[in-house]
Amino acid sequence: MPNISELLQVTALDKVDAKVLLADLIQKHLGWPKSSLISRDRDSLPQALVDDWLDLEKKRLLGHPVAYLIGKKEFFNIELMVAPGVLIPRPETELLVELVIDFLSQAACSEIKTPKILDLGTGSGAIGLALAKNIPHSSVTCVDISPNALNIAKQNAALLGLNAVQFHEGSWFDGLTDQFDVIVSNPPYIPAGDEHLSAGDLRFEPSSALTDHDDGLSAYRHIFQQAPTYLKPDGLILVEHGYDQSEAVCQLLTDCKYVDIKAHLDLAGIKRAASAKLS
Ligand SMILES: C[S@@+](CC[C@H](N)C(=O)[O-])C[C@H]1O[C@@H](n2cnc3c(N)ncnc32)[C@H](O)[C@@H]1O
Repeated sequence: MPNISELLQVTALDKVDAKVLLADLIQKHLGWPKSSLISRDRDSLPQALVDDWLDLEKKRLLGHPVAYLIGKKEFFNIELMVAPGVLIPRPETELLVELVIDFLSQAACSEIKTPKILDLGTGSGAIGLALAKNIPHSSVTCVDISPNALNIAKQNAALLGLNAVQFHEGSWFDGLTDQFDVIVSNPPYIPAGDEHLSAGDLRFEPSSALTDHDDGLSAYRHIFQQAPTYLKPDGLILVEHGYDQSEAVCQLLTDCKYVDIKAHLDLAGIKRAASAKLS
């Protein structure tokens, strides 16, 4: 039977992907830690593991995302379960979590006993659950229109022990009555027909999480128009957007009479988020 070293040597996969997939398989089959990729790389592997490896390798070569193949993804400082039907959280979205934490720790907000946070389009729960984990005294509500996504977000909350987080199935603000200190959202923003939708890992993710089937800005228009009813007077609205949408999103905020409009840079120096307050 082949060993780890041999499998990694002959695979056609990207080496990083191959190591992540193999480490997960070895952990599931044999209970060995990730370090065994080095420490036990000459041990023969069981046939069942090798069969599963060949199957995973084939799927990855067809383009199935690594996160779906291993069923999990790290986000901020939590691990989330993911599956087809829910967007795989992206590292750039961690910026939203950092910005909310910063906002709520500022002097004006630090006195709020239980900050109320609304995560619109929660998907796997990434933003809302990372905030609930890192701001333990907060009250987080996660909304999604997709029952599939919401089901995964609820399972993630249970796995993380975040049992106070509330979930609501519906379109954006429909059915909500509360007011929030922070409204945060990473809505679908890829325009219909964009070439990225039919390339790479995106082909395997739910299109309703990626595109608004319009010009990429329709979710922002809706959210910005409705948000004043649900945002507390000193609250913050914060959204992620596409790499080339900063100007358009900030203009929509201006059109809707928000003030203190700010564009925020991701680690690559690209404007990836916009925030604003009520006038
Ligand atoms: C880009 S994904 C973001 C998922 C997650 N927040 C993240 O950052 O990984 C957009 C999410 O918005 C949800 N969504 C799309 N249209 C919606 C609507 N009208 N109301 C609520 N959620 C919606 C999708 O189901 C999807 O989970």
